Amino acid sequence: MRPVRKAILPVAGLGTRFLPATKATPKEMLPIIDKPLVQYAAEEAIDIGVTEIIFITSHSKRSIEDHFKKNEQLESSLKEKGKDSSIDLIHPKKFEDIKFSYINQSKQKGLGHAISLAEDLINEEDDAVAILLPDDLFISSSKSCLQTLSDLYEETNSSVIAINKVAKEELSSYGVIDARMISERVYELNGIVEKPNPEEAPSDLAVCGRYILTKSIFKSLNNIKRGVGGEYQLTDAIKDLIDIEKVTGSLYEGKKFDCGSKKGFVEATIAMALSNPDTKEDVLGFIDSIKN
Ligand code: UTP
Repeated sequence: MRPVRKAILPVAGLGTRFLPATKATPKEMLPIIDKPLVQYAAEEAIDIGVTEIIFITSHSKRSIEDHFKKNEQLESSLKEKGKDSSIDLIHPKKFEDIKFSYINQSKQKGLGHAISLAEDLINEEDDAVAILLPDDLFISSSKSCLQTLSDLYEETNSSVIAINKVAKEELSSYGVIDARMISERVYELNGIVEKPNPEEAPSDLAVCGRYILTKSIFKSLNNIKRGVGGEYQLTDAIKDLIDIEKVTGSLYEGKKFDCGSKKGFVEATIAMALSNPDTKEDVLGFIDSIKN
C-alpha cells in the first residue's frame, strides 16, 4: 500500500459542550497556550508526509480557512516592525507546499456523514486516508499518535485506529472495541460499538480521534443508517469495514486530552505548559501557590 497523502479534518461540529465560547468561534480554533487545536492536528498530519488537508467545515467557521491562508498584510506589517521571526509563526514553512481543501457540511448529521463528504477528493492514487479529530489533542515525548498509526499501517497493510484505555464509567461516551491482542499495544478488531452501556461494553478500549482507513471506508459509510443520537456514526462504518477487511487497533502510549470538554481542555493547557521549558517552572510555581 502507498503512503498516506491525504488527511481529513472534520471541523463542522456544533461544539455545544463549550458554549458560549463556541457561539462565534469554532471549537477547533480554541488555543492550547498559543496555537489553535486545529493547527496541532494539521501539523501532526503534515509530519507523516500528508500533502493535502481536507477540512469538512461549515459556513460559520470562516476563521479556520483564514487561519491556513497567507496573510500578506500582517506579514508586511511584521517585517516593517522588524519582527521577522514572527512570520514563521503565522505561516510555518511546513505549510508552504500543502494543499488545503474545504468542503461544506450544511447540516450536522454526524461524524460519519462529515467524513463521507470527502469521497470525491479521494482518487485512484490514494489507498487510504488519515482522519484526525482536532478536538482530541495528543502529547507524546516520542512518536506522534498519527506517526505510530502510519508505521503500523505500512507494517500491516490494514486500516489502523488509535485506541486508549478508559475508566468503566466513561465508556458510554466513546466507540469501544471488541478485539484480540496480537502483540504489545496491537489489537485485531472483531467488532466495535458506539457509546455502549458500560455493563455491556466489550472491553475498556475506546477509540480516540486518529485513524488511517483504507478507501473501502467510503463504501461502508454509504451502507450505514443513522445510529446513536440520530447521527451517522463513523464507528458504525468501521464496524461494517471489519466484516470486509482487517482493522488493527493501536494502543496509544502518550497522553490524550478531549479538548471538546472543559476538563480535557484545562488539563491539556496545563500539560502543554508543563511540557514547555519556557513555561514549566512558572506554572509549577503558580500551581503550588494556589494549592490551599
Ligand atoms: P463531537 O462529537 O465532539 O461533536 O465531534 P461536536 O458537535 O463538535 O461537539 P459537542 O459534542 O456538541 O460539544 C467530533 C468531531 O467531529 C466533527 C467535530 O467538528 C469534531 O471535530 N463533526 C461532528 C463534524 O464535522 N460534523 C458533525 O456533524 C459532527
